[in-house]
Amino acid sequence: MQSIRVTGGNPLSGTVTVGGAKNSGLKLMAAALLAPGVTTIHNMPDIADVDTMSEVIGGLGAPVRRDEHSLVIDATTVDSFEAPYEIVAKMRASIIVLGPLLGRLGRARVAMPGGCNIGSRKIDLHLRGLSQLGVQIASEHGYIEATAPHGMRGASIALDFPSVGATENLLMAGAAAWGTTVIENAAREPEIQDLIAFLNAMGARIEGAGTSTITIEGVSAFSPVTHGVVGDRIEAGTFLVAAALCGGPVTVAGVKPEHLDLVLAKLTAAGAEISTGPDEVTLQRGGPIRPVDAATLPYPGFPTDMQPQFMTLMAVANGTSVITENVFESRFMFADELGRMGADITIEGHRALVRGAARLSGAPVISPDLRGGAALVLAGLAAEGATTVGDIHHIMRGYESFVDKLAGLGADIALIDSDEGEGRGC
Ligand code: UD1
Repeated sequence: MQSIRVTGGNPLSGTVTVGGAKNSGLKLMAAALLAPGVTTIHNMPDIADVDTMSEVIGGLGAPVRRDEHSLVIDATTVDSFEAPYEIVAKMRASIIVLGPLLGRLGRARVAMPGGCNIGSRKIDLHLRGLSQLGVQIASEHGYIEATAPHGMRGASIALDFPSVGATENLLMAGAAAWGTTVIENAAREPEIQDLIAFLNAMGARIEGAGTSTITIEGVSAFSPVTHGVVGDRIEAGTFLVAAALCGGPVTVAGVKPEHLDLVLAKLTAAGAEISTGPDEVTLQRGGPIRPVDAATLPYPGFPTDMQPQFMTLMAVANGTSVITENVFESRFMFADELGRMGADITIEGHRALVRGAARLSGAPVISPDLRGGAALVLAGLAAEGATTVGDIHHIMRGYESFVDKLAGLGADIALIDSDEGEGRGC
């Protein structure tokens, strides 16, 4: 087990390039199951979650080969329809194979994901939508058994909430259903738009990407494709917050600035000076960090996946801000760890009152989840003295070369063996 040790106070400057979006790449891998043949996906981040998804689809009969940042997926034969509990428990996003398996084989057996560190994360919207497409669903022994022996039928589906995962599962199932499917109140995230572009290149007929109404004309066959994953707006936003904490100028390359509209607006309000190019954003802090309220919402709202990082910035602002979490119910766990570093945060329900402190002080902390863990590393960059972040497997799930990239910008940061750190039990 390793930890990250960071000693705060170094200025950051230079250029860092982000990889392809984890939250798109994982879904594209699942979508590749629809097309018999060999699909190649470029700009794939080298992170643990991608390895887990490779295990899932390899287990279904479609082996995955990595060639640096490209994945070659051979879905010529898909001969299993089961995603076992051992893997789904490791990565909840594995349930995204439901839609493509139904499309390819008319059948799927997928372990029911349990809770996770950021909330209960139900899948009722996925299952209700699939049953509207004529899929018979049973839940037995901890598994979802989904069957559509005579194919799926297009339907009009209105989601109660624009769930990213439900929209994706329904897109992939609807693409292979007979007739027309309309998804109302669909998620609009850039990663959904990337998945639609990928499916359309495979032969699907989907309109309305990036809007709340998606219309799908089902097709009977898909062909393999070559596609590059959209840049990771959350990885980019994480480095931009690091720059705002430590000064900059830092240029983050490999991301579309328009995918970060609200994040950039909030960072500007907090005192950052920002300029953009077609595929990059440069940030330099103009003066003291100012307090700014933020409330998470589905895209194009402020991303829940940037909430912990932004709260870390607000923890050293020169005033009080309110951060409201509207997407996941338990996403403030890292705030207790931040408190151990001197942050003054009061949580009431889904709101956090953040009173900016003059400084944070380095401490041993534990990463509770992926984005919370990244936020604690950022806090360490701004804190006085050394911070040791434990349980970093959460961070490794989603950030490629996080330590090296921050070191490249000038941070005093290293991976250490955990027994060198001051880990705590919990
Ligand atoms: C995806 C992202 C995650 C991001 C989230 C919101 C991946 C692998 N993960 O997660 O990083 O934080 O979008 O942008 O892409 N809900 C239900 N019933 C459902 C589905 C969802 O009640 O059937 C609720 C969830 O509990 C949660 C909210 O809807 O409170 C949002 O979930 P959703 O948009 O589905 O997120 P994920 O696809 O799980």
